[in-house]
Amino acid sequence: MSAETPLPFYKPLIAREEITQLVEAVESGWLTTGPKTLEFEAAIARYVGSQFAVGVNSCTAAMHLALVAMGIGLGDAVITSPITFPATANVIEHCGARPVFIDVEPDTLLLDVAALEKFLAAPERKGIDADRVKAILPVHFAGQPCDMDMIFALASQYGLAVIEDSAHALGAEFQGCKVGSDYGLGFQGPWASCFSFYATKNITAGEGGMLTTNAPQLMEQVAVLRLHGISRDAWKRYQVAGYQHYEVLFPGYKYNMFDLQAALALPQLSHIDEWQQRRQAYTDLYNQGFANIEGLQPIQVKPNRRSAYHLYVVMADRARLGVSRDELLNRIAAAGIGVGVHFRSLTVQKFYREKYGFQEGDFPVAERASDQVLSLPLYPAMHERDVDRVIRTVRQVLGV
Ligand SMILES: Cc1ncc(COP(=O)(O)O)c(C=O)c1O
Repeated sequence: MSAETPLPFYKPLIAREEITQLVEAVESGWLTTGPKTLEFEAAIARYVGSQFAVGVNSCTAAMHLALVAMGIGLGDAVITSPITFPATANVIEHCGARPVFIDVEPDTLLLDVAALEKFLAAPERKGIDADRVKAILPVHFAGQPCDMDMIFALASQYGLAVIEDSAHALGAEFQGCKVGSDYGLGFQGPWASCFSFYATKNITAGEGGMLTTNAPQLMEQVAVLRLHGISRDAWKRYQVAGYQHYEVLFPGYKYNMFDLQAALALPQLSHIDEWQQRRQAYTDLYNQGFANIEGLQPIQVKPNRRSAYHLYVVMADRARLGVSRDELLNRIAAAGIGVGVHFRSLTVQKFYREKYGFQEGDFPVAERASDQVLSLPLYPAMHERDVDRVIRTVRQVLGV
């Protein structure tokens, strides 16, 4: 790519095989949920090491259904991270529950488990009735798994469910086990992991999501809830001998994954490990390229885990760089390089700030991150020379 050609923030790698499978799915005449979705579900369960996987139309839907299936509702409280996409907290609101934000660690921007432990020991101190705290919804930010042994241990101790926001984390590992599995930690409470196949994710269906779990009952409930709460998948209704009447078991949702999504995403799974290696190699190059810039600090990956390297996030410290994050974003974008912000804390967003009366200083780490985080292009369709160009551009616009 020449210096003049814009480098987008993200570009998917869609190969001939994906297109062939998509065309085959279209030509099969079965466009909605059907055999391709089943095949993709089985492939994801195998890949992550879960017993079940249920395809839905987004990670948002997967998280919402997990909460509903676990019985979380009006007046309940669900603990989550403020450094995330709005979907994570919005689904809690959709259930009539309230998100309880716990601040993040400064070096990883993952839920701070020490702060979580402190909160759980006395939720009343934050005005929350201990009996209403029902679940923890940790976010594997940028593809790095949270401290899952501590999270499961605390969930066991306090009788909480765990719903993982794994939107960024397909392929990531905690202590050698893939996100989407139970990490061999033997957690006995309700548990599910929720993935995204949104356009920019490590593998993509354009839009799409998946819930993994080891609990047959939870899997069944989610499978029913994703399609209007009716007792049988539509595609089975027409395929067994004789017409099968369905029963409405719950007023469910229209959240099912359909076969065209599965056909597009499924072949990408065979590349995920190689793509992840490339993402990691580019992350290492970025880290080296920025190593001696005072005030530009990449997020860290902890030693007992492997990130999916979904995003390359740096924190730009205005005091030390002499330029604000927003000014830096504008300068990089003006030089033809796509940039992003992942994420401004949900505690500074209008709805959450006003509804829960958050004040400046309530979430110091997340608030600082809100002003400092900046994401640079990171995807396998890039080449090393693109990474070099981004490094050169960032240095140039900073004058270092
Ligand atoms: C951390 C996080 N959680 C959840 C979601 C929602 O995923 P989806 O768009 O598949 O609903 C996203 C989407 O980008 C995300 O970044």
